[in-house]
Amino acid sequence: MLGRNKARPILITAGPTREKIDPVRFISNYSTGTFGYEIASEAARRGMPVTLISGPTLLKPPDRAKFIPVESADDMYRAVIKEARRASCVIMAAAVSDWKVANQAKKKLKKRKGPIALRLVPNRDILEELGKRKTCPLVGFALETENMDNNAVKKLIAKRLDLIVANRHSGSKRVFGDDNTDISIIDRFGNKKAYKSKPKAELAKIILDKALGSNI
Ligand code: CTP
Repeated sequence: MLGRNKARPILITAGPTREKIDPVRFISNYSTGTFGYEIASEAARRGMPVTLISGPTLLKPPDRAKFIPVESADDMYRAVIKEARRASCVIMAAAVSDWKVANQAKKKLKKRKGPIALRLVPNRDILEELGKRKTCPLVGFALETENMDNNAVKKLIAKRLDLIVANRHSGSKRVFGDDNTDISIIDRFGNKKAYKSKPKAELAKIILDKALGSNI
């Protein structure tokens, strides 16, 4: 795959998305972006052209990467669909919010007595859309609190992925922000390999090797 697509960048997404409630508030998740940035840095170290599309994080993008900062899932959707057209491979490590606020306020909501209701509507699934187009190998992440491997396989099939990286999130084993983590990597042929308590930097190399080895 690499030989065929040498000049085409590898596209990596990272970080959380923010869904605005009003101009000063948002809903989001605990993603720090570490995994995606580690993979992007490793690809850049190997001399590959890299495009990194990221939600807000505290991390520094690799110097040689084309960096596209985004905020909401809709922003990420537009950027990914555009950049994926010329990508050699897409690795979606971003923790994309599944919902956005339908009744987003144009002005800051003022405090009032009693509850207020937010109406959440689904965001578009970026990977699912890429799976329909299938112009290059696709790697997804699956963050699970239970039935990790089974749920990851369901996502791999539903989104027509080549590889999925399953991460467990539980009370004692956090995923977001932790440096060491447990993952399983499952490919579309059903091959599965588990990695226990490894640093994300090391796992990033393994994920990249596997992604570059996958063909469509
Ligand atoms: N993803 C995406 N667009 C979305 C939501 C998720 O592209 N709107 C991608 C993520 O970047 C990840 C994969 O899909 O690579 C799986 O995301 P995850 O949050 O684990 O699963 P969901 O498909 O959102 O399903 P659920 O939240 O029900 O587990």
